[in-house]
This record gives sequence, structure tokens and C-alpha cells, in this order.
Amino acid sequence: MSSKVNRGSWRCFARLAAALAAAALASAQAPPEARIKIDTERVVGQVDARLFGNFAEHLGRCIYGGIYDEGSPLADADGFRKDVIDAVKGLNVSLLRWPGGNFVSGYHWEDGIGPREKRPVRRDDAWGALESNRFGTDEFLRYCERVGAEPYVCINAGLGTIEEARHWVEYCNEADHTYYADLRRANGRDKPWNVKIWGLGNEIDGPWQLGHRNAEDYAKFALEAAKAMRRADDSIKLIASGSSNFSPGYDWIGWNRTVLDYLKNDIDYLSLHTYIGNRDNNFEKFLAAGSDIDRRIAIVDGLIKAAREGQTARRPIYIAFDEWNVWYRTCCGTEFETGRKGLEERYNAEDALAMGMFLNSFIRRADVVKVANLAQLVNVIAPIVTSKNGLFLQTIYWPLVEYGKQRGNQSLDALVTSPTYDYDGRQVGYLDVSATWDEKSRRAFLNVLNRSSKLDIAARIASAGGKVPSEIAVWEMNHPDLKAVNTFEDDKKVRPTTRTIAVIPTGDGFVYKFPAHSLTILTLKLE
Ligand code: AHR
Repeated sequence: MSSKVNRGSWRCFARLAAALAAAALASAQAPPEARIKIDTERVVGQVDARLFGNFAEHLGRCIYGGIYDEGSPLADADGFRKDVIDAVKGLNVSLLRWPGGNFVSGYHWEDGIGPREKRPVRRDDAWGALESNRFGTDEFLRYCERVGAEPYVCINAGLGTIEEARHWVEYCNEADHTYYADLRRANGRDKPWNVKIWGLGNEIDGPWQLGHRNAEDYAKFALEAAKAMRRADDSIKLIASGSSNFSPGYDWIGWNRTVLDYLKNDIDYLSLHTYIGNRDNNFEKFLAAGSDIDRRIAIVDGLIKAAREGQTARRPIYIAFDEWNVWYRTCCGTEFETGRKGLEERYNAEDALAMGMFLNSFIRRADVVKVANLAQLVNVIAPIVTSKNGLFLQTIYWPLVEYGKQRGNQSLDALVTSPTYDYDGRQVGYLDVSATWDEKSRRAFLNVLNRSSKLDIAARIASAGGKVPSEIAVWEMNHPDLKAVNTFEDDKKVRPTTRTIAVIPTGDGFVYKFPAHSLTILTLKLE
């Protein structure tokens, strides 16, 4: 009896083994549908730390009730929410833009300095709110020091004056005993704040902007503002207001061309803004927007190159994507309507994948995109959401943290082939890929977004020189329900997973299957 059982189980085992071998062979023979090949010598440029910037505007509950919550048991002696500081530090924000946004075009910075009880309450005519001015320049700059972010101050190029902008630079950066430097000292700060990055206004191309102008009028204003601000401190870097509006029929290329033509000898960056949304509930179309971003970067890069031909002195000009995000549920109509909704967008699993899409576009063009600021930091279209009692982290928080670890790496020009799909008459690869290389630790990072809603896609991965890692670290964001959101009650629902897997070499590389609707970062140690 026992030998019959043994014979039976042996036959069963043999059949199973044969089936497994056949399956393994079939999968080995089925060619992977995609290919990713990196060459650590094909460097595009350094991934600037400033790509992992953020933005805090006086809007809704971003500042008041977000960053700053006087009297809250969760706040420190300066009124800064301690739990928010920890979450911001976790995000490792490199560069923090402030105070707007649309808000800045009606903001007078001198309202926000000195004793708080003497600061005027003003109407915020950008968003239809009241501004107490209890959070101003010194509070912002102290906050930046606290969270370890570099400050980026945007001037009022809407209803403000050039003189005001010049004085703002003097207040922040002057070391001598001038009127504004001594005012800063009287307000408690002896050492200059040394703000290096300044924006020459916000979205002046938009008719919604207070003080909106045409390109020529803006460029003339910005040219004189740049001159005056540089007289106050010639070490500052300036970001001109580029196009924020890419609607069909609007001449956004013309705006950028004119601004570059006037300002080519005076600016360091041209700003672009882009928000996207899954308005018609079409996941693949939503994530194809990366191809629009790639195209805009390429076009603006061309405009910059053309403008630089006419420079009197060589000065590089880069792109600053100083507002980008998913924003559509709490958007649009007039500013007042939008402002009242506070822009408290709740982000789901597919929005988290969109973070990878944006960052892949920026990293692929790390030679020209040197600044990027997610809009915004807390509560308002933000990865961090507060209540009086605490906070939760939205889905979009996690890709930002993980991509941020690649700052300082070299962006690589990876060879990518992938099955494609149609987007607006163009073919877009399902796999959207960027790659970076950290020479010191000899690690390569592959950032791969699979924007197919249904298909897992296997890719053959190889590196020039044939080095195959023995194992890879996998970071993955992928949720079966693309509409799943995190909440105060459960902010662990949509989070990344990590694992290490042994590599089975095949040919000059290995095969990895990227699941449908996933964002994956593979780390490969190339000895
Ligand atoms: O980030 C929200 C708003 O979007 C900003 O105030 C403005 O610059 C853009 O239109």
C-alpha cells in the first residue's frame, strides 16, 4: 500500500514538475514586451536638489491652520505646528516658495513685519479672504530654517512696485546698517536671511491675476525690477514669470519668447506652471499628460537656446516648474469661488502615480529643469492635511519622498521601448521611465510608471557593459482600487511596499514585470 502511494505521489510530482518546466520555458521564450537599457556614461545632467521643492501660499488653510496655528496645543512657541514640521521634514523639502501664487499680486510685504498686534488686516483680493498678516517674512524665513528648506520669495509684480521689491531684498539680505536692514534687526533678526531665489511675479500671463499685463509690459517691468533688486544684492537668482496657461488657441510660446527676449541677460530661470486632472475618468489619458509636459519642456528649451544666442554675456537659463500638481476637483470658476473651497483636494491612488509621471519628465530633462515646486504643502492641494487634533498623509506624499532620495544623482538617457497607446493622435509608451545614477554608491535607479490600466508589462532590463546586479530593491505603489484615498481614520490604506528580490540573469540583463497601474522604483547596485 505504502509503495502504491509513493508511486502515485511520484507520478503526480513528475507531472507537476513537467508542467512547471514547460511554463518556465514558455515564459522564458515569450519575449518581454519592453526594453530598458541604461548606460552610466550617458549622462543628461545632475538632478538638482531644487527639483524637490514645495510651495506655501496664503490661501485657504495652507498657512493659517496648516503651517501656523497660534494657540494650538500642537504648535510651538512660534506658532508653528510641530506635527506639520515633522511631516514636512519627512518630505525633505529642498526649496519653499512663498507667499503666492495669485495671493502675492495684491500683497504688500511691509504689512507682515514687526509686532503682530500692529499689523493691518487686509482684504486678499486674489482669493476673496481676509489676511491677518500675522504670518509674514520673518515667520516664513524662520520656518524655512526650522524645516531645513531653502526659501524662495516671489515678489508682487501685479499691483506692487519695483521699489517695494528692492526694499524686500534689502530687508532680507543687507548686512550693512541701512534702513531696511535695521528694521529687520529691530524685528529680531540680526544676521541677514540671505534669500537667494526670488521670483519676478506670479502668472502675470493670466487674466485672473491682479495686475495682469501683456508679455511686453510684463517684461519691461520685470527687467527694471531685476535691475533694482540686483542693486540691493547682486548674488540673487531670478525666476521670470513664464506661461501658466496652455489652453488651445493661447499663444503661450509667444509669451515665453517675448519674456526671454527682454530678460535673457538678467534672469536665471523661466517659470512654467502645469496642473492636470482626470476630468473624464480615463486613467490612461490622465497619465498621458506627461507627454504634454515633455513637449513643453522641449519647446521652452528651444526658446531658451534661441534667446541665449543673443546674450551679451553667457548666462545659463533654466526652467523652474514652480507650480505643478493634480488639481481639478476643487478647481475653477472664478478665484473667489475657488478660494472659498479652500482647494482641499483629496488625493487617490491614481494621483500618486501622477507624481511619478511629473517627476519622470523633470528628471529626463535634468539638464534644463532645475527647479520644481509641488503646489502646495499643507491642506491646499497638498500631501499633508491637518485638523485641530492632528494630520494625515495623502497618497501623493510617498512618491515625493522616494523620488527625493535621488537628488544629486546623474540623470541618465535610458533607452526605452514599450508598447504604446493613442493619446490625442500621438503614440505614448505605456511604460514611462526615468533613470538616475549615484556614482558614489554605484547604484542605478529606474523609475517606471506603468500607465496601462490592465496590462502587466514585462521589460528586459540591461546596463551597458553587461553588469547584472545579484539582487534589486523594489519600491512600489500600486493599489487595486485606483480611487482609494487615505483619511484621518486610515492613512495607511494607500502606501508603498518595499522588498528585495534575487535577480535571475537572462542574456545581458534580467526581466522584470511591471504590474498594471503601478509606479515602481528599482534600485540596482552595479558593482
Ligand atoms: O496653487 C494655486 C494657484 O494656482 C496659485 O495661486 C496660482 O499661481 C495658480 O493659478
